[in-house]
Amino acid sequence: EQKLLVNKLKQDNLLSKEEFLTLLKQSSEEISEYLFSLAREVRQKIYGNSVYIRGLIEFTNFCKNDCFYCGIRKSNANAERYRLLEDEILSACEIGYELGFRTYVLQGGEDGYYKDDFICNLISRIKRDYSDCAITLSIGERSYDSYLSYYQAGADRYLLRHETASEEHYQKLHPSNLTLSNRKRCLWDLKSIGYQVGSGFMVGSPYQKPENLIEDLLFLHELQPHMVGIGPFIPHKDTPFASESAGTLELTLYLIGILRLMFPNALLPSTTALGTIHPLGREKGILAGANVVMPNLSPREVRSKYMLYDNKICTGDEAAECRFCMERRMNKIGYEIAVDRGDYKGGKCYV
Ligand code: 5AD
Ligand code: FES
Repeated sequence: EQKLLVNKLKQDNLLSKEEFLTLLKQSSEEISEYLFSLAREVRQKIYGNSVYIRGLIEFTNFCKNDCFYCGIRKSNANAERYRLLEDEILSACEIGYELGFRTYVLQGGEDGYYKDDFICNLISRIKRDYSDCAITLSIGERSYDSYLSYYQAGADRYLLRHETASEEHYQKLHPSNLTLSNRKRCLWDLKSIGYQVGSGFMVGSPYQKPENLIEDLLFLHELQPHMVGIGPFIPHKDTPFASESAGTLELTLYLIGILRLMFPNALLPSTTALGTIHPLGREKGILAGANVVMPNLSPREVRSKYMLYDNKICTGDEAAECRFCMERRMNKIGYEIAVDRGDYKGGKCYV
């Protein structure tokens, strides 16, 4: 009857709360394999054998927030802070272009140093020099007007994980100045402006119950994002969650499979966190239904400073090494890296 639930999920792109809970609680290797095979089939039909690459540029690790799980939270006095200059960001883009990246993900902590004017200027410069590239922003919670100005400057996509869709759980992961309702407000604003929007959550974060994961899935169903990023929670030594245990590979993969059946057209990354908890984590993510990888394009000097969690991979490698490492890894499991913006395939989603 677990197989029937998987079939039903593929059919309807949704299950009831009770059904989702059954699927989550009574997983087995056999049912996972079945789920992954359907997820691959669905992904194959829409995106073929292509895996999209995104060049991740981590341009600042200053952050005004103090999320309990995150290694660059403002209270972590051990974090060595850095900010990239505009020229350093542009030269990362140049290196990335040569390596075949056609999407730049500009990610950073919530750093008030970069005003809207700076961000807008940067976006237009990148768009002027690389008109065939997409720009994805991942710079946290901002006002509607700021989001609108970035979009008008040329930003195409925005990543903002909701982290957990349970009000109560949200407050256990964040200090009280951060609220789930503002996070959701941001996501709906981004969608209404016209961004391709990515949300997502951590798997196995402290205090997370299976019921919370169902809330995440149901919230995502409501949001209908274009991208969903999930990865295991991994403790960071200088945070209040230092001695909590990490999320598991198995549960993360299982949820990727479920997300693929819920969102056949979605862009689903196989994340760095997944690659951090298992040497073949990113490959396994692709084989569970993901279709995006995000090799690091940050300058080597700053990589080890953007430590969201302990033991993050790729912190000692050059951009080119990661790019070709990824290509080998994907080829080995029968997939091709696409030199392409890798836009969402499917109807434009109006809200
Ligand atoms: N473990 C795993 N993921 C983390 N993130 C932040 N801290 C951690 C951690 N300790 C994730 C959050 C955030 C994204 C950029 O990184 O989900 O949205
Ligand atoms: Fe960075 Fe393999 S992807 S070293």
